Amino acid sequence: MQHELILILDFGSQYTQLIARRVRELGVYCEIVPFHYSVEKIIERQPKGLILSGGPSSVTDKDAPRVSKDFYDKITVPILGICYGMQLMAVDLGGASQPAMRREYGHAQLKRLSGKTLIFTDLPEKMDVWMSHGDHVTKLPEGFNTTATTGDVITAIENHERNLFAVQFHPEVAHTPKGKDILKNFIFNICQCSSDWSAKSFIAEEVAKIKEIVGETGNVICGLSGGVDSTVAAVLVHEAIGNRQTCVFVNNGLLRADEFENTLKMYRNNLHLNVVGVDASKEFYKELKSVTDPEEKRKIIGRVFIQVFEREAKKVGKAKFLVQGTLYPDVIESVSLRGASVTIKSHHNVGGLPEKMKLKLIEPLRELFKDEVRLFGKELGIPNEILQRHPFPGPGLAVRILGDITPEKVELLQQADRIFIEELHNFRLYNEVWQAFAVLLPIQSVGVMGDFRTYEKTVALRAVTSTDGMTADWARLPHEFLQKASSRITSEVRGVNRVVYDISSKPPSTIEWE
Ligand code: XMP
Repeated sequence: MQHELILILDFGSQYTQLIARRVRELGVYCEIVPFHYSVEKIIERQPKGLILSGGPSSVTDKDAPRVSKDFYDKITVPILGICYGMQLMAVDLGGASQPAMRREYGHAQLKRLSGKTLIFTDLPEKMDVWMSHGDHVTKLPEGFNTTATTGDVITAIENHERNLFAVQFHPEVAHTPKGKDILKNFIFNICQCSSDWSAKSFIAEEVAKIKEIVGETGNVICGLSGGVDSTVAAVLVHEAIGNRQTCVFVNNGLLRADEFENTLKMYRNNLHLNVVGVDASKEFYKELKSVTDPEEKRKIIGRVFIQVFEREAKKVGKAKFLVQGTLYPDVIESVSLRGASVTIKSHHNVGGLPEKMKLKLIEPLRELFKDEVRLFGKELGIPNEILQRHPFPGPGLAVRILGDITPEKVELLQQADRIFIEELHNFRLYNEVWQAFAVLLPIQSVGVMGDFRTYEKTVALRAVTSTDGMTADWARLPHEFLQKASSRITSEVRGVNRVVYDISSKPPSTIEWE
């Protein structure tokens, strides 16, 4: 079945993915494509409408990203330009855009002008909006009307005859309170979409697709990590082909306390997955012995994981497919300048395995954002305990034990981490933070216990707020909470006499300590 589609042409804005999420929240499927996506391809996809995103460039720059000359003539469906998208549309069609006297960044108040507007239908005359631009439109192209201003700046323009609309501000961000209504006007009234994108329709279509790809007799293997993505992917595949999927869940000895046993039980008893649980802790510890360099640890863990997984996969026999929980943000061919942080650390996954074992990939979540995975996972009956679980790195506690790794250090950290997380739940703070964990530092310091002087280890607690892990702020957790977590850790975890709380943001720090 072909869904109604909105295409977003990406000009590099930090908000491009947010636009896509907003559109999808309205029940309309939406994809991000690079700004140079050809007009022919756009027409072939039959979108109901197009959005031109914002971007960091200035339209007047010689090498600014642009659309092709025939774009506005050949595309007849409605187009909404946002920020840079507005300036581009105006300049391309004969208007002008110039650098503003001062960069406008932050809150502004928009005033609607009298006259016909489709984009502001049923919205108030004055609205708070979020601005982030250096240039603005100074001359209207022919056939356009100004429908709103902020101060003396042209903030919104419309050309009803040609189905063209543009706004200078960002309707996709929460700081534009009526932004959702503006997007609704565009999506439903102007593009006439009917909202056919839902968890139910996605699951039904995906299940049918998997059945077709795998066929009547094909076998599939899937690596489970205990996290949201691999679990939702496995459950979807299970809906399609049942026990012809064999899942492999590896204990690398670097998981949180009791995580291997509890998650394995849940996979089997609640989700009825066909899972092989492999305790390979000793193999991992052996290879990691005396290794202190973080990148080296990651490489070893990745390599040993592939060894173990390959060995188990071979036992399944005849498997032609490998399930992976790849998400949409990983596959977007985006021009967004996300910075070097993506490649600073080599992330651990089953890289290289599909080619080596001649497996074809099944990636049922390729079209989804993380929040959609959670939503759709709920529809599939996956417990909240998994869906709301904080992100956990593939190399696990290895990158939270600074220095070399021993089973004793792992156990100590597991205990401290368990207390921290338990208390976050007790104080109802777990869902308020994006990620929280304990770190074991490679130093000892002096303390007192009764009449004795101690010389023991230090645990650092880290809790951050974030939306995607790319940037993060340290969580302002209440002092009463920190006091409770700290005193429990020092009294219940033998070998720890000091607890510190990490108050660094990302950047310049990272979320993990290694
Ligand atoms: P950083 O520490 O880079 O972390 O600020 C950002 C997010 O990525 C996770 N992370 C990893 N995940 N393998 C993973 O699968 C890794 O090697 C790795 N390093 C960091 C981290 O937990 C956070 O959510």
